[in-house]
Amino acid sequence: MGAEIVDDVRDAPTDGVTALAWKGHGPVDGALMDRFPELGLIANYGVGYDSIDVEAASARGIAVTNTPDVLNDDVADLAVAMLLMQGRRMLQGHAHAQGGWGGKGEFPLNRKLSGSRAGILGLGRIGHEIADRLAAFKMEIHYWSRKAKDTPAGWTFHDDPVALARAVDILVVSTVGGAATEGIVSAEVLDALGPDGIVINISRGTTIDEDALLDRLEDGRLAGAGLDVFRGEPDIDPRFSALDNVVLQPHQGSGTHATRAAMGRLQRDNVSAFLAGKPLLTQVN
Ligand code: 8YV
Repeated sequence: MGAEIVDDVRDAPTDGVTALAWKGHGPVDGALMDRFPELGLIANYGVGYDSIDVEAASARGIAVTNTPDVLNDDVADLAVAMLLMQGRRMLQGHAHAQGGWGGKGEFPLNRKLSGSRAGILGLGRIGHEIADRLAAFKMEIHYWSRKAKDTPAGWTFHDDPVALARAVDILVVSTVGGAATEGIVSAEVLDALGPDGIVINISRGTTIDEDALLDRLEDGRLAGAGLDVFRGEPDIDPRFSALDNVVLQPHQGSGTHATRAAMGRLQRDNVSAFLAGKPLLTQVN
């Protein structure tokens, strides 16, 4: 038994490989799986496995695992941080404070966030952590999920994303990625959120109609956005660079030393279990 680390999977040996420990967001399709005739496991480094064709894996008898739970806190923290930064215009405030603001005058007043109405699109493990944090900011919690969930008292379920957006000031996108949620935050959803609305996305760039989002951020049909994920990342639309109502992050939701170590441990534990013929810890198929 041996392990090999490669930057590009095309450089990996193909014969004798029974497990792939996968990191990155590049597609893992049936053709790639077929390069490894003895493959039995794809262990993903990340909770989201939308880049892996799970159906193709299942059809080949290949198990897929992910790294749920260990990153919930960090991703939720980043969602809240982007919201506070955007609403309180902290990037602009930082620039204003640098070098002293004596000659610059008072910093313009900005937006109160505590007590707002927050909509969580996708009340999974991460969405729930975000809702808990926003509830501590005295926010009214609304959510959309495939079905109503057992939640703390007072959280309101909406059965469609447009109705959710209409009911809130802040929309936090925390749903899974992949074909099922592609463009779920449509132009209609953004219009329902309206000109005072802030969009936060820590899910996947695919979940938002990004052109519709950019149009509305540019012309004021939306107040602002905090985004950790983008269509076509790591190369993002240059239109974002001209906006001053956004807070942009380089897909770093889970990017702390502690959490990345925990993700790595869980990924490795899945590989070890597989190689030892034991039950996998976090199988998704
Ligand atoms: C990435 C993520 O996996 O867990 C997820 O779904 O998006 C991230 O944690 C991480 O950036 C490694 O690629």
